[in-house]
Amino acid sequence: MRYVPTGCLRDGMILAKNLYGANNELLLAHGQRLIGKYILKLQTLGYQGVYIDDDLTKDIDIVNVIKDELRHKTISTVKNVYIYSKTGDQRNLDKSFDDTKNLVSNMVDEILNNKTVMLNMIDLKVFNDYTFYHSVNVAILAIVLGMAMGYSYKSLYRLGLGALLHDVGKVFVPAEILDKPSALTGEEFNQIKQHPHYGYEYLINNCVLPSEAYTVVLQHHERYNGSGYPYGLIGSKISRDGKIIAISDVYDAMVSDRPYRKALPHSDVIEYIIGKSETLFDPEVVQVFFKKIAPYPVGTLVQLSNGEKGIVLQNFESMGARPDIRIIDDENHVRDICLRSNKDYLSVTITGCEC
Ligand SMILES: [Fe+2]
Repeated sequence: MRYVPTGCLRDGMILAKNLYGANNELLLAHGQRLIGKYILKLQTLGYQGVYIDDDLTKDIDIVNVIKDELRHKTISTVKNVYIYSKTGDQRNLDKSFDDTKNLVSNMVDEILNNKTVMLNMIDLKVFNDYTFYHSVNVAILAIVLGMAMGYSYKSLYRLGLGALLHDVGKVFVPAEILDKPSALTGEEFNQIKQHPHYGYEYLINNCVLPSEAYTVVLQHHERYNGSGYPYGLIGSKISRDGKIIAISDVYDAMVSDRPYRKALPHSDVIEYIIGKSETLFDPEVVQVFFKKIAPYPVGTLVQLSNGEKGIVLQNFESMGARPDIRIIDDENHVRDICLRSNKDYLSVTITGCEC
């Protein structure tokens, strides 16, 4: 299978994986042949892309770092936390918090058992439920980074919990400000800047969590050089968990479509984060991030500097820009090459993603 951006989908393409909505409902089943109205629907719902099966890539398996079922359960549970926080339904809220804790344990278990060395961070998120998909992605990314930094199981659990709930304070910021497609006024931005504090206060009063998880919620917008909010903490004043969530949050937000801008390519966002090492982000976390996150996820079609195109087959730690690639020529002949060691490709680079 391979990943195809929604704008590149064509009639007759075959869906390779089930597509679910944020309420865990099946939208389209794998094996479904796409037709115009389905493609239009996917665009309307805000899907950035989907997995497609074709003859050239049928042997490529794209394994997610956690199982789809766990991902969808977690997305809908986070959604429930937000809904019941807003309505004040304490009984259901308590149950949703309990579910969240169990699901974080399952996520840590699955990520620890996953043998993939690089994280291929493609997520099939829908526009309207961005916050819930985003929260799960931030948690996955944070757990992967924590694991690479030698965190214990307990520490990964606390980190994942804080990550899943990091933006819950947004429940208390008016939706018209959060979703405003144009520039925010100073007053509106001041309100947004309160959400880490709102979330922290709310969780302290409504849910028993490890103290580290509360801290993550409070600190996820703090920046290494003190330019963040709500307190402008500098360097060592920010917890290591807070620094991990800061990078995870920015990364997933930038590779996602937002009301005020389109998604940026993974490779560009990784460059951005590396460029902000020692200013916005902690250099130690940036280094681990660079090692673990694939700029060209498995299954994406990439353009090479020699004019060829190919599908990414496998990524290697710290060598994200030199994956194994299946070259596809104009007559649809294929050959697999190792960009790290093939002599003919030593000076060939990936220049970007293709359709
Ligand atoms: Fe936030």
